[in-house]
This record gives sequence, C-alpha cells and structure tokens, in this order.
Amino acid sequence: MRTRRSLIDLDDLKADELDYILARTDEFKKSAPGKLLDGTACANMFFEQSTRTYASFMLAELRLGAHVVNLHPMNLSLATKGETIEDTAITLGAMGFSVLVVRHPEAGFPKRIAEVFDGHVVNAGDAGHAHPTQALLDIYTLREEFGSLRGRTVAIVGDIVHSRVAHSLIRGLHRLDANVILVGPDAFLPPDYASPRVSVERDFDAVLPRIDALVLLRIQRERFDSMPISDDEYVASYRLDADRLARMSNEAIVMHPGPYNRGMELDDSVLEFAGWRYATQVKHGVTVRMALLDFLVNGR
Ligand code: CP
Repeated sequence: MRTRRSLIDLDDLKADELDYILARTDEFKKSAPGKLLDGTACANMFFEQSTRTYASFMLAELRLGAHVVNLHPMNLSLATKGETIEDTAITLGAMGFSVLVVRHPEAGFPKRIAEVFDGHVVNAGDAGHAHPTQALLDIYTLREEFGSLRGRTVAIVGDIVHSRVAHSLIRGLHRLDANVILVGPDAFLPPDYASPRVSVERDFDAVLPRIDALVLLRIQRERFDSMPISDDEYVASYRLDADRLARMSNEAIVMHPGPYNRGMELDDSVLEFAGWRYATQVKHGVTVRMALLDFLVNGR
C-alpha cells in the first residue's frame, strides 16, 4: 500500500512540510526538475469549471512525466449508473492511479475520496470550503516579494464568506505570522472571523495606506441567491481603481486568484499597475503544483 498523503486543506501540511514545498518551488523555478513523476498515473476530476487550477495541474503533471487522464464528470459511471464516489475512487486505485486531483461544488467531497483512495488526493477547490493549492501559490508569491511574512499586513477584500481561496489563505497567513485585515460589506464578512492577527474592517479607503499586499476577490454569485447590496454600492465602497491605488504605499502589491471581473472588484487601471501580480501568481501556480505533487508522491 502506498503511503497515503493527501492535501485537503493547508492544515494537512506541517510547518516543515510547507517550508519544504516552498523551497522546492524555488528550486524548480530555477531549473526544470525532470521526470520526477515518470509514469505515475494522475487523474484530474473537475466537477466544476476551472481554467487556472485545471490547466496548471495538467501542465505540472505533464512536466513531471506523469501519465495524465482527465475524467470528465458526465462520462463517469457515477453520473447515471448509481456508483458512489467512494467506489469510483476504489476502482481508480485498483487501476493503478496514484493521484486524484478533485474539484467539486460540495464541501468535503475530496475528503470523502481521500478516506478510501489508496493514493494521494489533492483538493482543487471544494465549494466555499478550501482551496489549498491556491493558498500555496499565493503564499509563495508573497514570500518571493517580501521574504518573511512575519509582521507584514495583507488585506483580503470582498466576498470572503463564500471564498474557499480566502479561507485557505487566512489559515496560511496566520501560520506565517502575517497580519490579516478582512474588508467587505457585512453580509460578506461576519464579525466572527476576527481572531488574533485577523481583524475585520469596513472602510476600504482607511485600510489602503497600511497594507503590504491586497488580495481582491470575485463576488461568488454562484454561491448565493441575491446580492446583499447593489452592484453600484459595492463598486462605490470596494472597487479598486486609480484613486484607491494612489492611497497605497509604492511598495504594496495587488493580487487576485482569478477569475477577476473587470468593473466590479477592480477597474482596468489595476491591470496596468506596477504592483499587479496576477500573472506572477498564475505562473507560480504551475511550479507550486509541481513541487506539491513531487512531495506527495515521492516524499522528501
Ligand atoms: N483561482 C482559481 O481557482 O481559478 P479557476 O477556478 O479558474 O481554477
């Protein structure tokens, strides 16, 4: 039996394991690592749309020499023939798959698979619960920019309550001793988020001069029925534009997990801003996922 090592959320990684993955990402960035997953069978199972996570996992697997199979939900017996996801996972394990990368609109779905699968399961985003590989690439991007994150201040702005990206990133930043400020309207930001080094603020303009990095979030309309405030009110209070960029320090950076919605959480001036790091995040997404897959399959 293979060593079961999965990533459902960042808490599955001990501090030294997180450091190891980030250090390996550095190595892989400097020189291509070769076929570390030579012949390892990886299945990507995306039950929900994805551009960045899906394509970057595929590229990471291919660059490491894995055998890659993309299992489309509509083609699985699970869809219409009464097979459970647990039995699907047992079947894929018997076939020789070692890695399952799973995105699903139900929180906890990847964990259910990990409990029965004889191999490694990576949560590629489950509902509003967790998105640990996005958090890894965000943390890598922040560390590349600032070195240690201890005492640095990162504001996360927008629809935090529905954001799996925010939930995983908050955990990661907390572990790395960064200060986190959550900014948004009441309905997107319950006050019980506050904890040591995590504060909740409503006034975006007041926060801007104090931060090292800003993480913008998309409003996740697919996860709620009606918008709690009007789009116009949201834009007036929380959209990042040229005036708000001018309030930030010259060294501050702006990040977004994507997909971003122009006109809502940002306007086009942000895409021209010197500190806009979206493309850097996307690029790091491939390398971080290579480092993660190598760690899960090969250990240290
Ligand atoms: N950031 C992110 O998860 O994007 P996708 O939904 O395109 O994978």
